[in-house]
Amino acid sequence: MRILVTGGTGFIGSETVVELIKNGYEAVIVDNLSNSKEAVVDRIETITGVKPVFYQADCCDYAAFEEVFKKEKIDAVIHFAGLKAVGESVHKPVEYYSNNLISTCNLLKLMKKYGVHNIVFSSSATVYGVPKHVPLYETDPVESATNPYGETKVMIERILEDACKADKELNAALLRYFNPIGAHPSGLLGEDPNGIPNNLMPYITQVAIGKLDHLRVYGDTYPTPDGTGIRDYIHVVDLAKGHVATIKKLLSNPGLVVYNLGTGKGTSVLEMVKAFEEATGVHIPYTIEGIRAGDVAENYANCDKAYKELGWKAELTVLDACRDAYNFQKKNPNGI
Ligand code: NAD
Ligand code: UFG
Repeated sequence: MRILVTGGTGFIGSETVVELIKNGYEAVIVDNLSNSKEAVVDRIETITGVKPVFYQADCCDYAAFEEVFKKEKIDAVIHFAGLKAVGESVHKPVEYYSNNLISTCNLLKLMKKYGVHNIVFSSSATVYGVPKHVPLYETDPVESATNPYGETKVMIERILEDACKADKELNAALLRYFNPIGAHPSGLLGEDPNGIPNNLMPYITQVAIGKLDHLRVYGDTYPTPDGTGIRDYIHVVDLAKGHVATIKKLLSNPGLVVYNLGTGKGTSVLEMVKAFEEATGVHIPYTIEGIRAGDVAENYANCDKAYKELGWKAELTVLDACRDAYNFQKKNPNGI
């Protein structure tokens, strides 16, 4: 069975390609390399012994994207390709709307034209907006997002819902990721952000190797036990396995399905700092700063539905993720 993986050289996509290959699938990657490197393809081969087929193409370029569908017989698609930086999206909204929406519409047109009926979409916990309660359930309302990036996820979920209503053959899984962290245990694949990281874990690992001076903790006055923000951090290898389980589910022809992919457990910023120190033995100095605009106090998932219907649950801990992220950062101090 051959799976098209858009954005397959990125952080979550590359890990998912490894899991697909380990489970006997063939993977075909399409990526424009706007936020990843072609060297990832060789690293996937080093880990799995199999070199996935790679096309450098932009999913917004219909003609270039169609070439892939002409050459490869595709059974299902996992659609990771997209721009994902919340802050950048506020400054470049048109780039975010056009990249994320046009790529998805092109993909859906091509899937229809070439008779491909299964798609897994990378959505986000951001579609729940400011949580009215935790944990969050798939049945909680999807809110209008506070930034253009999040809005693209809300819109694409809607597009896929409508596409499934109109086409009874189409199966779509909306996977709402919570906070993916960690790296492949080999240290060959991991998160490789450009410039100063926005997200907590890559910031901590860069402090750990001395690239950044200290962590800035955004706020310690939230209504949480230690006052710092709580998130549901999921190891990227667990997340990747969730995609393999979802592909199997789609083959049972379920139409539209929605799953939270998280751990069901919240960790505060200061708990994460402690966990990192415990897992690596490296001290992380920090200062307490004001809250970051747009951040919520607490956000974690209920993941019972994924366990019940996919037989999937997260197995790795925050300590595992800290160890693997640090290993990757040490081996790749300047990224891949
Ligand atoms: P990433 O940036 O590492 O990977 C995305 C990949 O898509 C990159 O390799 C990039 O080059 C490629 N890409 C972007 N636009 C493209 C286009 N038009 N055509 C072809 N390739 C294109 O990001 P990631 O963390 O692996 O995230 C993957 C998906 O998961 C994204 O859709 C993201 O929004 C979503 N997501 C990520 C997180 C997270 O915290 N990492 C959380 C929730 C959802
Ligand atoms: N934080 C710090 N210092 C930093 C970075 C982060 O204190 O340098 C804190 C944040 O305030 C927050 C927590 O660490 O409390 C996690 O922040 P991240 O930036 O790592 O993650 P977010 O939860 O803000 O955002 C992530 C993804 C988004 C996605 C969202 C959905 O980056 O793309 O989860 O839940 F939309």
